[in-house]
Amino acid sequence: MLGRLNHVAIAVPDLDAAAASYRNQLGAKVSAPQALPEHGVTVVFVELANTKVELLEPLGEGSPIAAFLERNGSGGMHHICYEVDDIIAARDKLKAGGARVLGDGEPKTGAHGKPVLFLHPKDFQGTLVELEQT
Ligand code: CO
Repeated sequence: MLGRLNHVAIAVPDLDAAAASYRNQLGAKVSAPQALPEHGVTVVFVELANTKVELLEPLGEGSPIAAFLERNGSGGMHHICYEVDDIIAARDKLKAGGARVLGDGEPKTGAHGKPVLFLHPKDFQGTLVELEQT
């Protein structure tokens, strides 16, 4: 079912500072910020040779990463994103096996303009899993 690792996401309290840190201290290529109101976050992507790192900052009221940042004041690893060929087939197989899909269970459009879903961290070793159809 799983394809490539699309990205690892790190929630941060200050996106500009985090982007500057990756750009200046680590010498990484960092994208321009992208607001995703439907997901309650603003993101940048750090482009690596084999994958990406997504830096996420809360956007608006009730951001899904606000509580995480309350518990992890300086930021921390938030989720991991795997690619799948067919997100509906993957969702239906996971649900049939008892895994919980977050939200209403319907894919939303992610930061790359492709359908994404999130799986409950309690079902996957304490890690929030994002699936992206590629
Ligand atoms: Co993501």
